Amino acid sequence: MKPIGIYDSGVGGLTVLKELTQKFPHENFIYFADTKHLPYGDKSKEQITQYSHDIVSGFQNTMNAKMAIAACNTSSALALDTISNDFHIPIIGTIYPLLHHIHEAKTIGIIATQASANSRMHEKIFKNHGFKGEVISVGCPKFTPLIEEGDFDSAKLQECASEYLSIFQSQKIDTLIYGCTHYPFIKNLIESLLPPFIKYIDPAHYIAQEVKKILPQESEIGSIQYYCSSNPELFSKKLRNLMGTDSEVKLWDLK
Ligand code: DGL
Repeated sequence: MKPIGIYDSGVGGLTVLKELTQKFPHENFIYFADTKHLPYGDKSKEQITQYSHDIVSGFQNTMNAKMAIAACNTSSALALDTISNDFHIPIIGTIYPLLHHIHEAKTIGIIATQASANSRMHEKIFKNHGFKGEVISVGCPKFTPLIEEGDFDSAKLQECASEYLSIFQSQKIDTLIYGCTHYPFIKNLIESLLPPFIKYIDPAHYIAQEVKKILPQESEIGSIQYYCSSNPELFSKKLRNLMGTDSEVKLWDLK
């Protein structure tokens, strides 16, 4: 059975992989972490487009994947519109799957990488599809490197979270989108700093709904293979800490 390829710069896409393996246990998955270029949030649109193109090309042409999932908002915001016509396999990103689920919101907060926040792509896509409310995007550049370190209780992470989320004291929101797939790993911290009535949107759930529309029913038991573009030993350690998974991680240098 052809695999589904999922990618991110690092561990963030594991939050999407987890949802997908639970919903589709019969599928084969390949997870690729582009650890050589981590973090994506401080890269240019051209760089992110090139990385995303190389990864999807590898999935389609080398791994014979039937579908690619950009489990990365930065790639979804900056690259997918440019690259999706270059491939015959479907590519699902993190932004379009949210479209049917935001219309009740009046003011949406989006926490994201600096590159995603600067692009304002979530807001553009939502408004192009009829969203009439307000969107407040906040870049959180220090989150990804700290989350990659894996210490979710660190004082530094708490300090950054308080700083980044303080804007929502004065600018009230009713909905918060996890606009970076790394951030659900620290959802307890984030949600403890915001008022109780906020609706939280983790794209992983809605990505799974999109995948369901495309996939036929299967009955076999699937597998997961892990790859990254540098230091597989380190990624393997992170995988064990975050997911409790003792899987082999192979080096796949796309160049
Ligand atoms: N997890 C990614 C995202 O959703 C990328 C984070 C990064 O590498 O800066 O945007």
